[in-house]
Amino acid sequence: MMNFKSFSKFIDFLPPEFLHSLFIGFLKTQFYKKNDSFENLKIKVFGNEFKNPLGLAAGFDKNAEVIQGALNLGFGFLELGTVTPMPQYGNQKPRVFKIPEVEAVIQRLGFNNRGVEEFLDKLKKAQKIKSILGVNIGKNKNSKDFISDYHLLYQKLEAYSDYITINISSPNTPGLRDIQEKGNIEKLVSSLSTIKKKKPTFLKLSPDLSRKNLENICRLVLKNKFLNGLILTNTTIERDELYKKPVKNSWKLKEEGGLSGTPLREKTNKIIRSVYELTYGKITIIGVGGISTGRDAFEKISMGASLLQIYTSLIYHGPNVVMSILSDLSCSLKRKGIKNITDLVGKNINYD
Ligand SMILES: Cc1cc2nc3c(=O)[nH]c(=O)nc-3n(C[C@H](O)[C@H](O)[C@H](O)COP(=O)(O)O)c2cc1C
Repeated sequence: MMNFKSFSKFIDFLPPEFLHSLFIGFLKTQFYKKNDSFENLKIKVFGNEFKNPLGLAAGFDKNAEVIQGALNLGFGFLELGTVTPMPQYGNQKPRVFKIPEVEAVIQRLGFNNRGVEEFLDKLKKAQKIKSILGVNIGKNKNSKDFISDYHLLYQKLEAYSDYITINISSPNTPGLRDIQEKGNIEKLVSSLSTIKKKKPTFLKLSPDLSRKNLENICRLVLKNKFLNGLILTNTTIERDELYKKPVKNSWKLKEEGGLSGTPLREKTNKIIRSVYELTYGKITIIGVGGISTGRDAFEKISMGASLLQIYTSLIYHGPNVVMSILSDLSCSLKRKGIKNITDLVGKNINYD
């Protein structure tokens, strides 16, 4: 029988965004359903019980349209969005490029989404679903006042989500990543802190952040009660890891946008470790970047992440990748004599 990898090669001539819409269509049918549970992967984080620590990363279900279908893959939680106040088309196509030799993607979608009103309708309809749903919020490209965009989104969506992620790190919205700079980030957080919030709140950071800015944000999260943790990380605009292996369509490496997948893995691992140390293990870290195996998942948790997310490995390995990561992670804990995944967080234990 043809496995997903050969199937994906077979349909590789189709534009990536079209393939994504096929994937969304497939999940909507809800034909695919995995219910396996792993006792040693259950984890309690920010007051919520997760059936396992692996979640869907932001950007896959931007319009909250395939919540049950995505949960059926076996995820412990989902992060929906990025949603902006107004609908927007994003950048001109083509804007997504696959680099199969290194299982990477370069994309400059630019927060294409149908806007908060439609998103909210979908989210309200999903309230009966018993799972953890996070919402990732971002500003519109042409917004004159980014702070009021985040205010509006936060206030509209908080009641219907289990956590909120403030996305200040996508490289495809001009100026967005500057919000991470000292001064800007304090302004945003202190303004949002006036909202009476009940739900855990995260900042999603770029892997290209300077050490100075990273230290500043860590201090901010430690002292500001509005923030519960960090999502590490978004895509990178650097290409150094890509040039280590020959690639057939090398013109793609020069495309502008954020790079995700395997070449991002080590970079995010280092940031997770630094942040874990800088914050003395006191904040929640959600690790994302280049996870496609149980080993990758084990490493990020061992470095300090309590929860994980994936996106690009779904593109290359298909729906089964979720169960394959989880079952390997569960087995590796047993092999190492670790009773529960909680006991691995930040322990710096080797997978081998
Ligand atoms: C096609 C695509 C679209 C994405 N869109 C978003 C997005 O809208 N918001 C966001 O915070 N991250 C977005 N991301 C970044 C992912 O959430 C994730 O942080 C990054 O891809 C690293 O994980 P991965 O290597 O498992 O893909 C996107 C990634 C890809 C590949």
